[in-house]
Amino acid sequence: METVSEQKSNLLEQFTETRDRTLKLVKTLEKDDFVVQTAPFMSPPKWHLGHVSWLFEIVMNKTIKNYKIYSQEFNEYLNSYYHQFGEPHDKDKRGMATRPTVDEVLEYFHIISHKVADVLQNDLLDNKTCQLYFMAIHHECQHQELLVYDLQHLLAGRYRPVTANPLPVPSQQELNSVRIDGGLYSMGYSGNQYCYDIELPEHKVYLNDYKIDVFPITNGQYLEFMEDGGYNDFRYWLSDGWDKVQNDNWNAPMYWEKVDDVWMTNDFLGKREVRPNEPVCHVSFYEADAYSKWAGKRLPTEAEWEKAACWDEKTQTKTVFPWGNKPPDINRANLLESYLWNCTEIGAYPNGKSHYGCHQMIGDVWEWTSSEFTGYPGFKSGFSEYNDKWFANQKVLRGGSFGTPSISIRGSYRNFFRLDERWLFSGFRCAEDI
Ligand SMILES: [Fe+2]
Repeated sequence: METVSEQKSNLLEQFTETRDRTLKLVKTLEKDDFVVQTAPFMSPPKWHLGHVSWLFEIVMNKTIKNYKIYSQEFNEYLNSYYHQFGEPHDKDKRGMATRPTVDEVLEYFHIISHKVADVLQNDLLDNKTCQLYFMAIHHECQHQELLVYDLQHLLAGRYRPVTANPLPVPSQQELNSVRIDGGLYSMGYSGNQYCYDIELPEHKVYLNDYKIDVFPITNGQYLEFMEDGGYNDFRYWLSDGWDKVQNDNWNAPMYWEKVDDVWMTNDFLGKREVRPNEPVCHVSFYEADAYSKWAGKRLPTEAEWEKAACWDEKTQTKTVFPWGNKPPDINRANLLESYLWNCTEIGAYPNGKSHYGCHQMIGDVWEWTSSEFTGYPGFKSGFSEYNDKWFANQKVLRGGSFGTPSISIRGSYRNFFRLDERWLFSGFRCAEDI
């Protein structure tokens, strides 16, 4: 267990690194880029910068006596969905506001950075307050990832990252699955660092024996589904998914376009031919589910996914990450700080495989599971309206993506999205009953 002073210096270090990383993501943007909202589901970069700072203000307001909010105007524009702090600004109109200006929001960002750093350096913080600051740091990490999705939607190949590294060379690429014995499994976070309320409490679930894919489903595999008429056959689709296919004319993952009989995608690497050995990305839950049905398989539950990622059969212990308890590094997983700006081909991270031999469970693409997003038995809310008001009509994704900051991912992390959303870096792997 960390001592109070260790936890505090860790808090300040994580805070400073996180704020620097946010600024690094927007460093090369033109001023015009900050304001535009290219779709109702994305937010302008200006809004993300302001909103992450606003949440720190909320924490200061809750924990510092007589704290004075910076600006009521900012408070209204930057509130995402917290009714407890006033009426939130319309999400799909965030790009319609030219006030506060980009400069004003950047000034606000720096003012809040200084205020929080002062608090973390000087004040005696109790454990509960420390947890709130950790939550606000991790919240900013979540927005860094959302910002990356949004930058891709806004700029794609025209985005100029401050750091961009070459893609690693893949090794093993044999597509197969591993058998995992069922029985009782303790699901949830078991480490001693920060985690979200929704990862707790650790609790037992019963699993049947199952098989799970060693790799995420690739573009090549997904193309077989498409070429077999996957998008034209209602038999593979859930009813709501089939409606979506019909109404929105889905015939491929988001960002894909057929040019002269060749499937192209448009992402940070520019407009380019789809690579068969990359994990399929930008698919909705409905598409992941339809593919699985077509393939005669199914999506794993989140408990099955977590056991395949974290359980070590040999030592009968659970680790925080697939490779053990050491934090992620660039040799084990493709996360934001790898700065690759794309998925890597399957087999690119043999050092990151799980005890069962499953590859790329952390990083590259979030993986849809069949599990409904809801609280674990005994769930206690850590912050009202943050996670708990979304316990309906969303599915859980696991594992993080190439846009996820490394401090914010672990085997027990539960992401959640609506079933038709696909602008995130989302893919999947399949499971089978035995
Ligand atoms: Fe937020």
